[in-house]
Amino acid sequence: MAAVRVWGVTEPGYFVSFEGGDGSGKTTQARLLGDWLGQTLGRDVVVTREPGGTFLGLELRRLVLHSEDMDPRTEALLYAADRAHHVASLIRPALDRGAVVITDRYLDSSVAYQAGGRELGEDEVERLSLWATHGLPPDVTILLDVDLATSAARMPADLDRLERVDESFRQRTRDAYLRRAAADPGRWVVIDAAGTIDDVQARIRAALTGRLPAPARPEGERP
Ligand code: TYD
Repeated sequence: MAAVRVWGVTEPGYFVSFEGGDGSGKTTQARLLGDWLGQTLGRDVVVTREPGGTFLGLELRRLVLHSEDMDPRTEALLYAADRAHHVASLIRPALDRGAVVITDRYLDSSVAYQAGGRELGEDEVERLSLWATHGLPPDVTILLDVDLATSAARMPADLDRLERVDESFRQRTRDAYLRRAAADPGRWVVIDAAGTIDDVQARIRAALTGRLPAPARPEGERP
């Protein structure tokens, strides 16, 4: 298991993020992976999401997705505030007690959407999220990649502010994800997200072979 290292401390948990464009199926796949990991590893599994993984985050989610239009920097700061609180109050405590945490979106969403999509600087958007999270990286990031036509066909009818973007925004977001994945294959797993829910879940499980943390030890064997 690749331990999460922060401030020189080794944390026992295992941190997975799902990334991808709108309509890539992350929410369903994150939940299915969580069920499977809970069964196969016997470890506590926490499935969460951004924005809106906490009570405060739900307020921020409403503001960023369903209120008035805003400047890209305001948008980036609201996502970073949601992430800071999410990590401090939910993700880090869960990792500290040895849980597997699966989040539906994390800091790479900000780089893909606020830098790739909104065209803020990639480095500054990433630094903002690293500051917000005290530099907590996922052990593995699963990118669900689909072409724009497939994801558009999967989108709901009532679109939020971030879904009401044009095709070139969506293309820039996808390109940013693929660039980041290619640059760091040790952290990223790219999954073809076309096909049925079962097909995609099987691809994810196969791709995680050899990367999963150890199963929980039986009660009597614990130190
Ligand atoms: P959501 O309904 O959760 O979309 P999805 O089911 O596709 O994940 O809405 C989240 C929206 O917020 C989505 O369009 C992506 C966007 N977003 C950002 O722009 N930056 C971020 O940092 C995050 C976490 C999400």
